Amino acid sequence: MRQMAHAMMAVPDHDEWARDSFITSFKSHISVTVTPGNKVAMERRVLPAFRKEKGRDPTSRAELRKAMEKDTYHQAWGSLMRVAQEQMWDSIEGSVARQLPGLIQTAKTLKPKGSLRLAENLVLPRYLSEIDNHCMPGSYGAEVCKDDVRAGAIYDRGAFAYHLGARGAAHDANGRVLAAFLLGTYPQQKPRRILDMGCSVGHMTTGLANYFPDAEIHAIDIGAAMLRYAHARASALGKPIHFAQQSAEKTDYPDGHFDLIVSSNLFHETSRTAAPAILKECRRLLRKGGVIAHMEVPVRYADMELYNQVMRGWQTYYNGEPFWDAVCSTDMVALARDAGFAEARSGYVKRSADPVNDPRTFAAAPSEGNDYRWILTGTR
Ligand SMILES: C[S@@+](CC[C@H](N)C(=O)[O-])C[C@H]1O[C@@H](n2cnc3c(N)ncnc32)[C@H](O)[C@@H]1O
Repeated sequence: MRQMAHAMMAVPDHDEWARDSFITSFKSHISVTVTPGNKVAMERRVLPAFRKEKGRDPTSRAELRKAMEKDTYHQAWGSLMRVAQEQMWDSIEGSVARQLPGLIQTAKTLKPKGSLRLAENLVLPRYLSEIDNHCMPGSYGAEVCKDDVRAGAIYDRGAFAYHLGARGAAHDANGRVLAAFLLGTYPQQKPRRILDMGCSVGHMTTGLANYFPDAEIHAIDIGAAMLRYAHARASALGKPIHFAQQSAEKTDYPDGHFDLIVSSNLFHETSRTAAPAILKECRRLLRKGGVIAHMEVPVRYADMELYNQVMRGWQTYYNGEPFWDAVCSTDMVALARDAGFAEARSGYVKRSADPVNDPRTFAAAPSEGNDYRWILTGTR
């Protein structure tokens, strides 16, 4: 599937497109053909060797991970994964660098919809400033020049390529899943003011906006270059969204300002101290009777066998996602209860192509998470 172009996108030229296509095929080949061999390696070599040495099976994720890491197939797979990831960002970064002056100009000339509010002196939290998240060069917060939009331009194409187009041409499937869940689970809610936390370039925000056309939609993120791009992209798509550069840990909105607070894949990019702080901030910002719905990386470790935990948790050690294992093993429902959400719950929601006619409630835990999203919800 090709990504839907819009006026703000850094469209690849012929050679860049050819390189991107190779990398997508390479990643797809790893995923479909090479990745399953890890299970064979575990069953044929890793577990027999472990049993021989210890007289039992591994009992924890750490034990199985360390045993797997000694296996040459698993090592080779990890190298391919890492190289493909770096090549993906390298290719997109070059294409964006070539077009950056034009993109900055486009952002200034597009007829603005909604608004953009940047902070004077926002200090990036260490969990974003110290690493390149998922190997993305400069991560979410980098600014390289005046009026910069580079981080957003890289992320827009990178997120689509990273997921091999699985989230649709506009990369907005998370918005559809969340809309299906909200329409199916809280049909009585008619949110007038919605906040999306950790919006990046607004893939989820604009997806969700399609289903709440009468709501005033706000979206926050840390990165100024990300938000300039997000605002220009939303304007290009005709979506009046109000973007602001703020930390979800502490915002400047008044108490009880929002009817609905959402996020998609925010928490795994934060930290053990930030996650509870964000939920407390949600409690402060939510009006009585309102709803939170936070969507996170696919599956809880508590619902997964050890092998799948190790394979997913690879991100933690080798793909610049240091909080991944922690977020998948943290009891987020307990965190939400501690933050004051009495009716906190979590569960899996199956994708829906048509949220209005095919709404969703929580489904049974899936054995494989790709077709499902995990959502933490609570009301005040
Ligand atoms: C994986 S991206 C989210 C993508 C987006 N929500 C979507 O689904 O299209 C995570 C985002 O969270 C942002 N983020 C992380 N910590 C944050 C914080 N404390 N406050 C606001 N944004 C934060 C990052 O800058 C990044 O843009």
